[in-house]
Amino acid sequence: MDEAPSISLDRISKRFGDGPPVLDEISLQVGGGQIIAVVGPSGCGKSTLLRIVAGLLPASSGEVRHSGPEPDMAFIFQDATLLPWATVRDNIILPHRLRKVDRQSWDGLAEEWGRRMGLTKALDFYPRQLSGGMKMRVSIARALSCFPNLLLLDEPFGALDAITRNRLNEELLELHAKARWTGLFVTHSVNEAVFLSHRIVIIGNNPGHVSAVIENPLPFPRNAHTRESLEYLRLVGETTARLHEVLSA
Ligand SMILES: Nc1ncnc2c1ncn2[C@@H]1O[C@H](COP(=O)(O)OP(=O)(O)OP(=O)(O)O)[C@@H](O)[C@H]1O
Ligand SMILES: [Mg+2]
Repeated sequence: MDEAPSISLDRISKRFGDGPPVLDEISLQVGGGQIIAVVGPSGCGKSTLLRIVAGLLPASSGEVRHSGPEPDMAFIFQDATLLPWATVRDNIILPHRLRKVDRQSWDGLAEEWGRRMGLTKALDFYPRQLSGGMKMRVSIARALSCFPNLLLLDEPFGALDAITRNRLNEELLELHAKARWTGLFVTHSVNEAVFLSHRIVIIGNNPGHVSAVIENPLPFPRNAHTRESLEYLRLVGETTARLHEVLSA
């Protein structure tokens, strides 16, 4: 039995009010412990799709189902959504405080996740003292410190420089190897999509629909050397070509 839930999207469609359709019959299977990368042009409905999977928005039609263990979900939003009046430390431990679990069980989590995300020196800073990338790393630390079994990530690394982004991609896979959550990862970076995923789903525009699904057979564990492999470069090439087809459609 998987330790992480499988998610199944069955013909999800969405329109806001009487506006034009935003999503058109999106069907996707995410196996327990798999990471699916979702790429597509701006405005094609990626964030909307993630919100529907999270139950934050109702679909107009279609269904999201899960099997296996009950999903314990964390959502990393496109913008960092930190409390401005709380320090980095307090922002990281906020969900633990809200859950009113025993303090001993989360004492030290801010230090541990702050260290993993390179925030040790910033633990007592307020969000206004942080760069965009640092805010994002606090948001990631907050989500992962809850040990979710389902992780929804909406462009979490978009605000980071390339080196930090690569490092956090590697860190994320190391954490995944240990905790094996199921992941839906929205990104505009083809390299990131290929590095992180078991499968890449390309969403086309107007309305958002599944335009292509690319299986990613790159073996795990993946590390910096993976980015030099021929198979990685082939997948980046194929994904880029499919994305160009969508953008020029
Ligand atoms: N609450 C809302 N009410 C009305 N329209 C909305 C709402 N949320 C999103 N939309 C529309 O749905 C479409 C898809 O938006 P969404 O944010 O899902 O795109 P996206 O693929 O995440 O784009 P980006 O890559 O720029 O983040 C857009 O046309 C947007 O205007
Ligand atoms: Mg978005």
